Amino acid sequence: MKFMFRLAVLLAAVSIYGQEPVKLTRAEQETFLREAKIEKMRSARKGITDSQQATLFDGKLRHDASVQSIDIAKSEFKTDKGTELNFKDSFKFNIAAYRLDKLMDLNLMPVYIERKIAGKTSSVGWWVDDVIGDEADRKKKNMTPPDVDAFNEQMYCVRVLVQLTANVDANQGNLLTDKNWNLWIIDFTRAFRLTRTLPNPKDLVKIDRKFLKALRELNEPRLAEALRPYVTNDEIKSLLKRRDLIVQHFDADMAAKGEAAVLCNLPTR
Ligand SMILES: Nc1ncnc2c1ncn2[C@@H]1O[C@H](COP(=O)(O)OP(=O)(O)O)[C@@H](O)[C@H]1O
Ligand SMILES: [Mg+2]
Repeated sequence: MKFMFRLAVLLAAVSIYGQEPVKLTRAEQETFLREAKIEKMRSARKGITDSQQATLFDGKLRHDASVQSIDIAKSEFKTDKGTELNFKDSFKFNIAAYRLDKLMDLNLMPVYIERKIAGKTSSVGWWVDDVIGDEADRKKKNMTPPDVDAFNEQMYCVRVLVQLTANVDANQGNLLTDKNWNLWIIDFTRAFRLTRTLPNPKDLVKIDRKFLKALRELNEPRLAEALRPYVTNDEIKSLLKRRDLIVQHFDADMAAKGEAAVLCNLPTR
């Protein structure tokens, strides 16, 4: 009897230990980030703003989150890339970018929600599981993806999202690769610029077929409904101008080189 009991305990332990981490849907991740208790907070490595890594627990699941509460606006600001007019650095843009990613069903960004933490309204982002490195690590360690084309296609789509949102801080530290070679882009606090031109049109190489369709379907009312109050009307109008340029670019490219040279199909995550 005692032996049978021990065996049952052992089997249960092995099955729990051998399990993959629980996979929550994005809606479940949003609820978790909104409601789970914050167990601890510490500074996130490498960051330039005061971003924090928190550990949350809801009684069943323990998971980390990225917490940013920065929210500044300056008419002029000196960055390492030169002086920027109408400079903003805001947690609100993490939430807006995630909502845009969700609206277009891209899954290139982790979930971000708004929550008040230690008295400060903040963005709280799902900590990406099993990160094997950011782009700087990957290049330094010469880590080659098993399927180079599939990885590059994710990178092209991430770059389209960066141009669309005019994210001027899309550096290598904000591009994370997980163990399944999914690429994730984080940290949009310096996005949604008012520029009506593309920050770097050379970054437009290829685009996922569904992503291009979703771009064509964006309009002011849909964006306002999804992204407000995290962006202004002017920020939405500028995004739509950049959308027009992106769509024009890919349409012209397809007319010149054919669809196969321009469109790709990202696998669903
Ligand atoms: N959601 C996340 N998942 C995994 N790692 C993250 C996440 N958010 C932040 N990090 C890590 O913390 C670092 C700093 O966070 P980030 O959001 O980029 O803020 P900062 O504005 O300080 O650059 C990132 O470069 C990354 O290594
Ligand atoms: Mg960063």
